[in-house]
Amino acid sequence: MIRQVLKTTEPRLRDKSKPVKKIDKKIKLLVRDLKNTLSAQSNPEGIGLAAPQIGKNLKVFIIKPAKDIKTIINPKIVEISAKKFSKKKKKEKIMEGCLSLPHFYGPLKRPPKIKIEYLDEDGNKKIDTFEGLEAQIIQHEIDHLEGVLFIDRLLEQKEKLYEYVDGEWEEVDLII
Ligand code: CO
Repeated sequence: MIRQVLKTTEPRLRDKSKPVKKIDKKIKLLVRDLKNTLSAQSNPEGIGLAAPQIGKNLKVFIIKPAKDIKTIINPKIVEISAKKFSKKKKKEKIMEGCLSLPHFYGPLKRPPKIKIEYLDEDGNKKIDTFEGLEAQIIQHEIDHLEGVLFIDRLLEQKEKLYEYVDGEWEEVDLII
């Protein structure tokens, strides 16, 4: 089922999500809803979606850096690159956004490499290292599970928020 994506003003997005105890039918349905909901987004499209964004405060998210969707359950950070930020210049950096705040983006810096331990949707335990865009999405989604939004990170980094309107970037006030 395609679910409504909650907006950043929704208090439930600030709650911490609980770990999944057992991958049962309910969790499989939740994963299916996440996939259907993410695939249905067209303006803008999304590249990741966390369970709290569709109203379920459980440690589940999906990422879609390209064609394939990957499901991540109960992620634990094993290692995160010591070099804190990517060396890329600001203009080369990906503007980070969120389906809970469509059309708004900010130039967030995140560690370029992350190793996590997690369960896939069949309950298999995995350990994988992600880099670049994937590492960025994973950190964004893990933040969702902790009740943290990318606009919080923008404030921490004293970065600006931009609205993308008719192909132009417009600076807007960042108020949380
Ligand atoms: Co988001």
